[in-house]
Amino acid sequence: MLNRRQFLRRSALGVGAACISVHRPFLHAWDEPGLELRARPGRAALVDTDNPTEIWGYNGRSPGPLLRVSQDDSISVGLRNDLPMPTTIHWHGIRIDNAMDGVGNLTQAPVEPGETFSYRFSAPDAGTFWYHPHFRSWEAMARGLYGMLIVEEHEAPFVDQDIVLILDDWRLDEDDRLDERSLGNLHDAAHAGRLGNVLTANSHPGPTIPVRFGERIRVRLLNAANARVMNLEFAGLAPQVVALDGQPVSRQRTPQARLTLSPGARADLLVDVDLEPERRASLKLITRGGEVPAAEFLAGPERARSAPLISSFALPSNPLATALSLADSHRLELSMEGGAMGRMNSARYQGEQFSMRELAAKGQAWSLNGEAGMPEKPLFSVARGRTVEVAMLNDTRWPHAMHFHGHHVQVQSTSAHDQAGTWRDTVLVDTEENLSVAFVADNPGRWMVHCHMLEHQAAGMATWFEVL
Ligand code: C2O
Ligand code: CU
Repeated sequence: MLNRRQFLRRSALGVGAACISVHRPFLHAWDEPGLELRARPGRAALVDTDNPTEIWGYNGRSPGPLLRVSQDDSISVGLRNDLPMPTTIHWHGIRIDNAMDGVGNLTQAPVEPGETFSYRFSAPDAGTFWYHPHFRSWEAMARGLYGMLIVEEHEAPFVDQDIVLILDDWRLDEDDRLDERSLGNLHDAAHAGRLGNVLTANSHPGPTIPVRFGERIRVRLLNAANARVMNLEFAGLAPQVVALDGQPVSRQRTPQARLTLSPGARADLLVDVDLEPERRASLKLITRGGEVPAAEFLAGPERARSAPLISSFALPSNPLATALSLADSHRLELSMEGGAMGRMNSARYQGEQFSMRELAAKGQAWSLNGEAGMPEKPLFSVARGRTVEVAMLNDTRWPHAMHFHGHHVQVQSTSAHDQAGTWRDTVLVDTEENLSVAFVADNPGRWMVHCHMLEHQAAGMATWFEVL
């Protein structure tokens, strides 16, 4: 829980730590050929600038450099591993060549300490994506290893500011050090996953973002937490969701103050700022224990224009295969079982059937279709171009954020959330919810499907499929 003490501690610090300009420092000159990302230890002022926390970051920073590329450009990034454990980079949400997907032991060998790997790919979809390791990600990402990848539209609609907000919750001890002892804790893995006690935006404790009355801003939100589903609320601004997981939302939505973002998910928001000069607005995380401020927006003394824009804003659509042929689709069920207070008695693991107790001894607590952990055979295998329908049944007491690699999937029907019709790469499936998704399996290779609550993934909720 984000407790009162920490909340207060952060507010007290708010003044000193305020006023970082959230977008510009993260802009990265991409043009330099052969950008290198060094995964290495570093420090970040998560709570207090005088007492920065030891983290892991790309080029020693968390979040890592903001990568901005153009749609369809060829991208090349060298990874150098200066961490004490193997790593990879996964380009979350990019419909990428399979060999560049960065999944340790599925699409590539993990990159050993001191070694390098070069990623070359292009990004067919414009939008908000991110990158992170895909080997022991529960540990590396709890330590801060991730960054945002923005793919710019060939013709982006006009905004005055493009603001990136990467939200994370960190589990820190009394001295603001990362709580390392609890890494890999099985109790966390069998419950909600690792939840932090300090909330940051771009690794700052409640940054203040300067805006102006009349400005049109695009806010790119990412939930980079290991496991926390974030229920967010805007006070003083009326954002409109224009894209989810990088894919433009088709119907024009009305502004909404509340938004739920699962781990791994992104939302692009459009805001026409109508804050009078010197007034503040805020983005808050709503928790059971109360509200926690994530970021503030402060209107400067000048107005950008005399009245906020009223013209509509629409993102160009991406070249996704949206024509699903449901009549002759490949259909399957994906049943999620396990976790604390669940009904699972046993599951297969590495080819053998084990009881819950035996699984726990092996660090496993969850299963997908009766199998804990990556099975040797794919969940399914289909010819390229086939429509696939997956009916997910969450038979557990916990929500899960199911992430599909190499594809985006359309939510078909759901018994809970209002997300039907949206295209996602990460789909939140609530407890006891039945939710089905469909997509055209048009990207050949071996692709993971897993829960993006990283402890759930490590404790069994991971599988893969194959497109031939
Ligand atoms: Cu963002 Cu398979 O991960
Ligand atoms: Cu999960």
